[in-house]
Amino acid sequence: MQNKNIVLGVTGGIAAYKACALTSKLTQQGANVKVIMTKSAMQFVSPLTFQALSRNPVYTDTFDEKDPAKIAHIDLADWADIVLLAPATANVIGKIANGIADDMLTTTILATKAAVYIAPAMNVNMYGHPAVIKNMQQLTDYGYHFIEPGAGYLACGWIGKGRLEEPETIIEVIKSHQQTNKLLAGKKVLVSAGPTREKIDPVRFFTNRSTGKMGFALAEAAAEMGAEVTLVTGPVALDIFQNNITRIDVTTAEEMFHAMEAAFPNQDIVIKSAAVADYRPKQTYDEKLKKKDGNLQIELERTTDILKTLGEAKTDQFLVGFAAETQDPKDYGKDKLLRKNLDAIVINNVAQEGAGFGSDTNVVTYLNRSLKEHEIPLNSKKEVAKEIYQLILHDMKDESR
Ligand code: CTP
Repeated sequence: MQNKNIVLGVTGGIAAYKACALTSKLTQQGANVKVIMTKSAMQFVSPLTFQALSRNPVYTDTFDEKDPAKIAHIDLADWADIVLLAPATANVIGKIANGIADDMLTTTILATKAAVYIAPAMNVNMYGHPAVIKNMQQLTDYGYHFIEPGAGYLACGWIGKGRLEEPETIIEVIKSHQQTNKLLAGKKVLVSAGPTREKIDPVRFFTNRSTGKMGFALAEAAAEMGAEVTLVTGPVALDIFQNNITRIDVTTAEEMFHAMEAAFPNQDIVIKSAAVADYRPKQTYDEKLKKKDGNLQIELERTTDILKTLGEAKTDQFLVGFAAETQDPKDYGKDKLLRKNLDAIVINNVAQEGAGFGSDTNVVTYLNRSLKEHEIPLNSKKEVAKEIYQLILHDMKDESR
């Protein structure tokens, strides 16, 4: 935390008192802290308390421009290395998720390019309300980081989740996140995601159950870790919000092959998490096929194995494949690693609870070229993605792999 510039946003909940201890601990650890309070926060704690603890002026009003040479909320937004919102009420979470900027805190948050951490605190039922859950999901998609509240006795009398995490824990979470944060700075990462669609006629196609969630998590995690990311994706219902991700949309295996091949040469890390069709109809129809008596036979032909082709072409790229299996996952995974000349493979037992297509979580085995296995336990796909990058970076450093 030494010399880190931290903007601490305090909003109107009883947990505002804990933000005082947080300010004190941050300054003790060498951080420069500037506090912004909302009007409601001032109902709980006085700005003077934060001014004394941070030894900096406290900001409470967008229009209280002290220095005519600067616009305060933009100046603060640019000054910050980290913006921490603690405690964050349901109201402020809702405002930011919807782009509302109507006070000093929300204007600063919308204007900042710094990493933003949000530590919610509210009643257990508010925390579980679908609107709050949706807003938190939206903010996660925008790249904001949440520090989950703890469970226990709440000031409102309820027992459950909603208590602001302890100041020490908040600081530890931020520190460990910052350590992994820029591990991929200067690296170029290419990720493929989603299914492909192989046309039969204008209204029908073959596809598979991939939703693209793991590939998008890999792209987002790489972007958060500082990489310049290219994401080649088949048809999915997902959006990307980070600005260091270039998204290329494709439909068929053939289009994915061309997009991957074109982007491949100057990449450092290439991860093929897409579920590419292995076969496509040999003949496609421009007019809709009409039904007839009896069976219909559609002859299928093989698509290009993109991963295998990249494995043959690779120079310095660290190439990672995915293997989605329902039986003997490790044996099949190992076979693919060797056959396709990969540097590592992520093996996914899609039959396992919490793993595979459509799920928000995953549990995988990472197997590298020296056949060293590493189990990544059940976690959100984003966290699994981050662990995959840590293993890749470790292997990239290890010459003997
Ligand atoms: N892959 C690819 N091009 C294809 C098919 C698959 O690049 N035409 C990639 C996937 O993106 C994934 C890996 O290969 O990284 C999966 O290996 P593959 O042997 O194709 O898996 P399955 O099709 O699931 O395997 P199989 O039918 O051999 O079990």
